[in-house]
Amino acid sequence: MIVIKTNEEIEKMRKAGRLAAQVLDFIEPHVQEGVTTLYLNDLCADFTQKHGAISAPLNYHGFPQSICTSINNVVCHGIPAANDILKDGDIVNVDVTVILDGYHGDTSRTFMIGNVDEKIEKLVVRAENAMHRGIAAVKPGKYLYEVGKAIEKYISKFGYSIVRTYGGHGIGKDFHEDPHVLHYYSRENKIRLQEGMIFTVEPMINMGKNYAVDTSTTDGWTVTTADGSVSAQFEHTILVTSEGAEILTKV
Ligand code: MF3
Ligand code: CO
Ligand code: CO
Repeated sequence: MIVIKTNEEIEKMRKAGRLAAQVLDFIEPHVQEGVTTLYLNDLCADFTQKHGAISAPLNYHGFPQSICTSINNVVCHGIPAANDILKDGDIVNVDVTVILDGYHGDTSRTFMIGNVDEKIEKLVVRAENAMHRGIAAVKPGKYLYEVGKAIEKYISKFGYSIVRTYGGHGIGKDFHEDPHVLHYYSRENKIRLQEGMIFTVEPMINMGKNYAVDTSTTDGWTVTTADGSVSAQFEHTILVTSEGAEILTKV
């Protein structure tokens, strides 16, 4: 069931979204060669708490840390760790979800460490573009599949692949609500968009042609590309408005 948010809820979602974006702005200068992902986790957790909010990932279905940090071939759900030291040429997605006054804000960006291979830099830029193409396709009265269609149309020219196992999601009082948002074209997403819906757009783009992922990791969370290629992702939480989409995860 897709929850249509009331004006009061929308105002709370704006506040939660803004804080999530602030966490990313805050952490960005710290995302540097030589730091551990656990250090980034602890800074984000502290910032979130000081702003009166809760880090949603911590203990979510048993997730052990407060943010997700996904390096290079890690697609998503990387667990911050003391032995994950960022090095020159790495890319790392930092995914932040906060709960403020009972409502969730979910956003991520992929950061580049030092000198990143030009091909990888292009992947990162295009992953962000893909997210914005998807967001631009949102309009009340249109079908949700327009989001995936727009992303696929844009990404198909590069020889990359779009991850299919994970998608965006409705969000509000719950971290993950209906609908499931596909980042590729599928009639499964033949759902009419309506003012007051709130969901994330968060395409994961693999450099390789194979969209398959590997979830066989022993930690139970870390998802990698099956072919070992690099993967990049950006995420925003958006509200369907009369005009189109309003990005909630912005400062
Ligand atoms: N933030 C992720 C998303 O965009 C979900 C992370 S779930 C966790 O949906 F348990 F790994 F934190
Ligand atoms: Co997220
Ligand atoms: Co999300």
